[in-house]
Amino acid sequence: MKQVQFAAFGLPSQVGRCVEVVDVGETAANEIVFEILAFPINPADLSFMTGRYASQPPLPATPGAESIGRVVKVGSGVSDLKPGDRIISLLRENWTQRRRIPADQAIKVRADIALAQAAMLRINPPTALLLLEDIVDLQPGDWIVQNGANSAVGKILIGLARERGIRTVNVVRRRELVAPLKALGGDAVVVDDGTDLAGRVRTAANGEPVRLAIDCVGGQATRKLVDAVCDGGTVCVYGGLAGEDSAAPTHALVFRGVTVTGFMLGRFLMKRNRAQITAIYDLLAQRIADGRINVPVEKIYPIEDIAQALKHSEDYGRDGKILVAPNGPL
Ligand SMILES: NC(=O)c1ccc[n+]([C@@H]2O[C@H](COP(=O)([O-])OP(=O)(O)OC[C@H]3O[C@@H](n4cnc5c(N)ncnc54)[C@H](OP(=O)(O)O)[C@@H]3O)[C@@H](O)[C@H]2O)c1
Repeated sequence: MKQVQFAAFGLPSQVGRCVEVVDVGETAANEIVFEILAFPINPADLSFMTGRYASQPPLPATPGAESIGRVVKVGSGVSDLKPGDRIISLLRENWTQRRRIPADQAIKVRADIALAQAAMLRINPPTALLLLEDIVDLQPGDWIVQNGANSAVGKILIGLARERGIRTVNVVRRRELVAPLKALGGDAVVVDDGTDLAGRVRTAANGEPVRLAIDCVGGQATRKLVDAVCDGGTVCVYGGLAGEDSAAPTHALVFRGVTVTGFMLGRFLMKRNRAQITAIYDLLAQRIADGRINVPVEKIYPIEDIAQALKHSEDYGRDGKILVAPNGPL
């Protein structure tokens, strides 16, 4: 079967390649085999391949934090899944044609949602949801600010916040994104053009307190969000797209009581039991079915073209995600 591997850390489009490997083997009683129908290329996959992710795997390694799969085989002890079921895997190494995993690491996904959206269900939708639910006790009417607002997480967060009556100031780096993000339900969209971002965020929030800032950029962007939140406010860093450590001014932490904290989906899912995790994915799949979560896709590649797919995903300023369909067109 075909699988994506990289044998050295580096620029993903240069180190990622499609190789032939032995198939996954027989299922043990508690295992399933699924074929991967589609997977997205996420920023975390790119940093995994460059060696900048939380942990560095032994090489060669297979990336892939998420996918949508179809069960092809179940072990004798598996009763809640059957061949044909669609699943997302809670494990990594999804950039491959088939995968064998313990059944309790799979979550069944309803079959009536678009495969491309289902392929992007595992990571970004719950990230947006838990950033809204777990960091600050937000109430309807509260203002929050997020940067990287044109990201998949950012767009999903706009919709989930609006459902809850939470108002969003959305920071982007391209002026042409203002109208689309407003159309999506963003209450305000601010372009980070290098001039007094914090002041413009506060103005966009009508001078009302901005209680939470959600930061996927890091570096100096964190400092700007620290300046934008109210006294006692919280900045939650969940990504490092700038490639630099978050900067936070001491005076804001000491005299204004601003808290800077961090989020990683796995850590926050671990606080929940299996039933709660399943309920989260059921709710988010329902949002996909309703059309309320609909992340744009720019292009879908075959697995053999992984180098081109990676090259495409390295270019920001895109209109949507890059997906790969390892077992033929969707
Ligand atoms: N901590 C967690 O558990 C967790 C979970 C999911 C995602 N994340 C993080 O969330 C972030 C977004 O992920 P995604 O999959 O939603 O992203 P995505 O859809 O691939 O979009 C990436 C976005 O980042 C923007 N961007 C890239 N570099 C930037 C920079 N230096 N400064 C400002 N903006 C920049 C791009 O802006 P343009 O549109 O202008 O190109 C684009 O909108 C990533 O950092 C990812 O690692 C973290």
